[in-house]
Amino acid sequence: MNSLTAFRGRVALVTGASSGIGRALAVRLAASGMRVALVARRREALDALAAEIAGKGGEACAFPCDVECAAEVAATARAATERFGAVDLLVNNAGYGHHRAFLDWDLDDMERMMRVNYVGALRFTKALLPGMVARRRGSLIFVASVAGKIATPDETAYSASKFAMIGLAQALSLEVEDAGVHVLVVCPGVIRTSFFDAEALARMPPVSRRSMVEVEGLVDSIVDALARGKREVTYPRSIAAAYVVQAIAPGFTRRQVKRTALATQPPATPRAELAR
Ligand SMILES: NC(=O)c1ccc[n+]([C@@H]2O[C@H](COP(=O)([O-])OP(=O)(O)OC[C@H]3O[C@@H](n4cnc5c(N)ncnc54)[C@H](OP(=O)(O)O)[C@@H]3O)[C@@H](O)[C@H]2O)c1
Repeated sequence: MNSLTAFRGRVALVTGASSGIGRALAVRLAASGMRVALVARRREALDALAAEIAGKGGEACAFPCDVECAAEVAATARAATERFGAVDLLVNNAGYGHHRAFLDWDLDDMERMMRVNYVGALRFTKALLPGMVARRRGSLIFVASVAGKIATPDETAYSASKFAMIGLAQALSLEVEDAGVHVLVVCPGVIRTSFFDAEALARMPPVSRRSMVEVEGLVDSIVDALARGKREVTYPRSIAAAYVVQAIAPGFTRRQVKRTALATQPPATPRAELAR
């Protein structure tokens, strides 16, 4: 079984480390003795986090990078490897989402979401996996979403990017597990972070708002999944029952998701159309 149990002295690279899930996970990994490369666009936030980790006796370094940019990803992977030596754990976490009707969603942003959420993870994996395979040791985490397992209206482009990520991770796991590389897919439910902007909160169905949980429990379950060599973790765990229901009764799940997710939305009508 491939798993990560001895964290001390090992190296992690965490994308999207400037806030939310990535930040909380970086803090936890550093506290357990890992040396952490912090990746995101906002340098000040990364520098502040690196200082916070150093203040607690840990080691971290900021690597500002836009994961949408191929050249920046390649340079960051190289710089982190030069600074720390081999990367043992890659956390593909950088991403963003919107709650927005397909007909109202700007196509450029839909394409960009795929580049940031999916292609960014693909590129970091391409850059760092060969070293893991050569050393016959390594771990890859893909922070996907429940929206990557159960299609969600009002989140079309986001759901698509996370379905793509899960497909990549599951296929890759089959290829590399015998080379000693552990692939873990993480599917968070609704976690309290800055991921939800004012637009998202306004459009979010009340039941989702009520189900919002704190990030610490998610971080606990990720660290536990790494140590146990699990291939997938959904948090909160109770949500995973919905995958079973979807497999057995897809029509029922479809009706439930549609009723719940669109509870606060009018039927699909392009706003541009209405304005004419
Ligand atoms: N919160 C949830 O309920 C939830 C649920 C399911 C899945 N997720 C997933 O969890 C991941 C982290 O989200 P979060 O909730 O922690 O949200 P968050 O607090 O908004 O954090 C997003 C992180 O991604 C980074 N990022 C965004 N675009 C980037 C880019 N182009 N290049 C580099 N970094 C970029 C941001 O840093 P900069 O702005 O500094 O670049 C930030 O550090 C995302 O992939 C999201 O899809 C979240």
